[in-house]
Amino acid sequence: MATMRWLIHQLLLSLLLLVAVGSGVHCTADTTVISLEELHWRRSRPSQPLLPQRSRREKDAIVLEMRHHSTSWEPTPNQEDKLQMIMVSDEARVSYLLSRMNKISSKSQQGSSKAQIPLTSGRKLQTLNYIVNIELGSRKMTVIVDTGSDLTWIQCQPCQSCYNQQDPIFDPSTSLSYQPIQCNSPTCHSLQVSTGDSSNCSLNHPSCTYAISYGDGSYTRGILARDQIKLAGTVIEGFAFGCGQNNRGLFGGTSGLMGLAQSELSLVSQTTDQFGGFFSYCLPTKEFDSSGALVLGSDSSSYRNSTPVVYTRMILDPNQSPFYFLNLTGMSIGGVSLQASGFLSGKILIDSGTVITRLVPSIYKAVKDEFLEQFSQYPSVPGFSILDTCFDLSGKKEVNIPTVKLEFESAVEVEVDVSGVFYFVKSDASQVCLAFTGLSYEDEVGIIGNYQQKNLRVVYDTMGSRLGFAEETCGYN
Ligand SMILES: *[C@@H]1O[C@H](CO)[C@@H](O)[C@H](O)[C@H]1NC(C)=O
Ligand SMILES: *[C@@H]1O[C@H](CO)[C@@H](O)[C@H](O)[C@H]1NC(C)=O
Repeated sequence: MATMRWLIHQLLLSLLLLVAVGSGVHCTADTTVISLEELHWRRSRPSQPLLPQRSRREKDAIVLEMRHHSTSWEPTPNQEDKLQMIMVSDEARVSYLLSRMNKISSKSQQGSSKAQIPLTSGRKLQTLNYIVNIELGSRKMTVIVDTGSDLTWIQCQPCQSCYNQQDPIFDPSTSLSYQPIQCNSPTCHSLQVSTGDSSNCSLNHPSCTYAISYGDGSYTRGILARDQIKLAGTVIEGFAFGCGQNNRGLFGGTSGLMGLAQSELSLVSQTTDQFGGFFSYCLPTKEFDSSGALVLGSDSSSYRNSTPVVYTRMILDPNQSPFYFLNLTGMSIGGVSLQASGFLSGKILIDSGTVITRLVPSIYKAVKDEFLEQFSQYPSVPGFSILDTCFDLSGKKEVNIPTVKLEFESAVEVEVDVSGVFYFVKSDASQVCLAFTGLSYEDEVGIIGNYQQKNLRVVYDTMGSRLGFAEETCGYN
């Protein structure tokens, strides 16, 4: 009898063990085993100067080489300070976007920021952004690419105040095709939607002025004008842009910015005849020393995607802000679907200029809790700036990283590239943080940042009001 009981006991025990092992196996299918070194190499490269870029025409599309913009004009003392700066400017970017989205209640703007600007340092902020080469008014120049801005602008002579840039500052008097835009033109009136600020027109000021403040102390002011723009040899006449005579900010070294949002004044809208309101990009994983591609037009022959492009609907914003919104209906970590009330409203902005993805509090809490549970074999360490879920991975050769998936309306599943899951704060891996963060309020709109868009082909079809994703190993070739 005793032996019988013992046998049953053993049987039950092994059954229990089997169940436990079974669920363990299920997990490994949803994680990526990666060597720390491989995950980390991108930090060890020095920053590169702005190099001349190659661009080309391919069938019906234009392919522009897109480089990481990481030029520092002053030596930054150490890695941690530099990362702190990146987080600070990223927070500033996010409060700017949130305030543009919701002019009325801009509670995020005050005091809630977890990244504090060290006012006394006087050091310039650094941004993680991408740059391309264009030709405007027959001058070659380098500009930052931004899907969260509409108006393309460059620094112009006569300069009241300009930041340092690498190419000579554009002088309109040397361009025969340059024309200032007048106050009474409809283009001038579209400034309100594009920039959130209308022109100050008066009798003694007949030219259309514009002003954009980016919320982090950087701004551009000047006059709206037209000139010829050339993109990989394709000429667009009468392109409306901002000729900035008073500019300040973290555009370090570039001539200005190319706006790829969706109001009338954006480059996308102004070139629908040529490119049909279609563009796409692929951001490389390495931050330095590598480039991706910005493709204007729907021709996909230059894509190197390994999965088909799947499309989800873009949500139109009733407030008519020019940004791109998607419907985030779910997320999963290591194959486990998350439950959060935030998925019911689901509206989320996709932005090329924000670094770290922002999630509404309910979704972020679910992400964090699930991640902590699945990653519990690694010791937790204090947070860094806006990142509050950090681990000590030092001394580990390999780590098992849970797969992070975003799910959008129409059952579109996007797997975040493994390089977009963690942010290395300490180079010895003693502080490695989950590269997502939470917003302060549930009614704010989340933002998908560029850190989580790496190694993806992101396709914007503005006329079709849809956005596509495909996996692609990004590189310019
Ligand atoms: C118009 O003038 C106001 C007040 O001086 C200023 O805040 C605003 O930025 C100006 N707008 C433009 C487009 O110049
Ligand atoms: C997002 O998709 C879900 C499911 O299809 C839908 O119920 C919800 O209304 C959508 N949200 C928005 C903001 O369109």
